[in-house]
Amino acid sequence: DPWTAVVLTLFPGMFPGMLGHSLAGKALADGRWTLEAVDIRAFARDRHGTVDDSPYGGGAGMVMRPDVVSDAIAAHHDPAPGGTGGRRLIYPSPRGRVFDQAMARDWAAGPGVTLVCGRYEGLDQRVIDAWAEKGRLEEVSLGDFVLSGGEPAALVMLDAVVRLLPGVMGAATSLDEESFERGLLEYPHYTRPPVWDGRAVPEVLVSGHHERVATWRLAQAEAITRNRRPDLWARYKTERA
Ligand code: ADE
Repeated sequence: DPWTAVVLTLFPGMFPGMLGHSLAGKALADGRWTLEAVDIRAFARDRHGTVDDSPYGGGAGMVMRPDVVSDAIAAHHDPAPGGTGGRRLIYPSPRGRVFDQAMARDWAAGPGVTLVCGRYEGLDQRVIDAWAEKGRLEEVSLGDFVLSGGEPAALVMLDAVVRLLPGVMGAATSLDEESFERGLLEYPHYTRPPVWDGRAVPEVLVSGHHERVATWRLAQAEAITRNRRPDLWARYKTERA
């Protein structure tokens, strides 16, 4: 079976969105992965399609009802071991563990993911707790900023994962040289013309000397990581020691 993404959302029209283009879109059309956007509103209990309500305790915004959201999850996620093909259950939220390249690799190695997208102030805490306990729901954040909903986060996470699936990236791109696969930021890239606006391409790159090129690139990657991301640099040094 191809790698599967199921997205539970109040805005199914946002999918596949950008994932219908470029590398991910080609791979989707080629059947290397599948995407199903499920409308949470279809699980509403009343004629009006009510999915949210005002927060207990007062305050601004609306909270998504636990009964409606739980029914949507239950219809697409089997918490039994190996259930629903063993897909992970992910809730994009700024309170989650921060998404990184290692998680993208983990997700790509499995059968797929089910992503539950919250809107408004988010989900009722009880549905998060219940599915964390019985369905291994994991909260995952893109970083320390607040989006208006889980949908753009789901699109970003899926982009990072899908490009790692076998056959999605052309042979032209080397995965293991890029950012984070080695724990370093990437070295700079250059193409024609050799001189642009008075700026020349570094001499070593036009030398044709592959070993010197590799050494220069590693030194550049290390310098940029040390200067811009002391956190990544510290970990890189530790892991090499
Ligand atoms: N939903 C709202 N903000 C988010 C974030 N920073 N990461 C993941 N999901 C979100």
